Amino acid sequence: MMENAPRAAVIGWPVKHSRSPIIHRHWLKTYDLAGSYDRLALEPEKAEAFFRSFSSSGLVGANVTIPYKETAFSCCDEVDETARVLGAVNTIVLKDGRLLGSNTDEFGFLGSLDSGAPGWDEIGKTAIVLGAGGAARAVVWALLSRGLTVHLFNRTRKRAKVLADRFGSGVQVHEFDDLPTILKTVSIFVNTTSFGMEGQPALDVDLSPMPGSAVVTDIVYVPLETPLLALARHRGLQTVDGLGMLLHQAIPGFELWFGHRPQVTAELRSIVLEDMAWDEKLGEA
Ligand code: ATR
Repeated sequence: MMENAPRAAVIGWPVKHSRSPIIHRHWLKTYDLAGSYDRLALEPEKAEAFFRSFSSSGLVGANVTIPYKETAFSCCDEVDETARVLGAVNTIVLKDGRLLGSNTDEFGFLGSLDSGAPGWDEIGKTAIVLGAGGAARAVVWALLSRGLTVHLFNRTRKRAKVLADRFGSGVQVHEFDDLPTILKTVSIFVNTTSFGMEGQPALDVDLSPMPGSAVVTDIVYVPLETPLLALARHRGLQTVDGLGMLLHQAIPGFELWFGHRPQVTAELRSIVLEDMAWDEKLGEA
């Protein structure tokens, strides 16, 4: 490895389950670039000081994951519009000694849909989003940016209301009783809750009122085909799995740190899936 090759990392606590090193190391190898990408487990009491003095870390930049997306946000010298709207930073880069923060979740969500269901935002202009956490915030922002109206459903209505108020009239909050009626009108359905995740209950929703042209997507990617996506597929609806968002959100960081815009390929998908299967095996042992 060259002495001055750019070094990046994923920073979190804990961070050992992060897939980011697999993705970035694959790209470094594919494009034959000098550089490295590691995991950096950062103790909570050291987090703020670390980000404030990032320029002495030896890293050119990093991905920031749970629980530091808000800490990083507050320590950056400058943040992009998406990070500002979401109040969270997941990608940082040092430029001329200044720490610049961005949030690539919107980019990742849109990139995944654009490649998995091309033309999805032309089918119609109405979406259903389930959930009102951090992931929902990024998804809602992404859908609004493509001119869609969002119907929001969440177990805790108040939390949905807070999210909707942040974004204005393009987001409407509903009771679950309204779901069958609203389903008739939508072109895309997005699950941002943990329903359907391995070890969690499946989402119990009847998709039959949805138009046949609609797209269903899930941000959960373990399992890759959640019960919701299986249901949608059986109904003949277009489906996009959650792995695409994880892979696409990595693109801007890689380009910032290593100077080459990478591609999400079938090969990358299979490498990450293989790693997930390997983890599962180790978990069973
Ligand atoms: P993230 O940042 O990943 O979006 P989060 O902020 O914990 O995670 O949000 C999780 C979302 O899943 C929330 O919308 C949550 O609903 P509440 O706001 O009512 O907590 C939803 N969720 C998680 N488990 C749920 C369950 N068992 N039933 C219904 N909704 C659930």
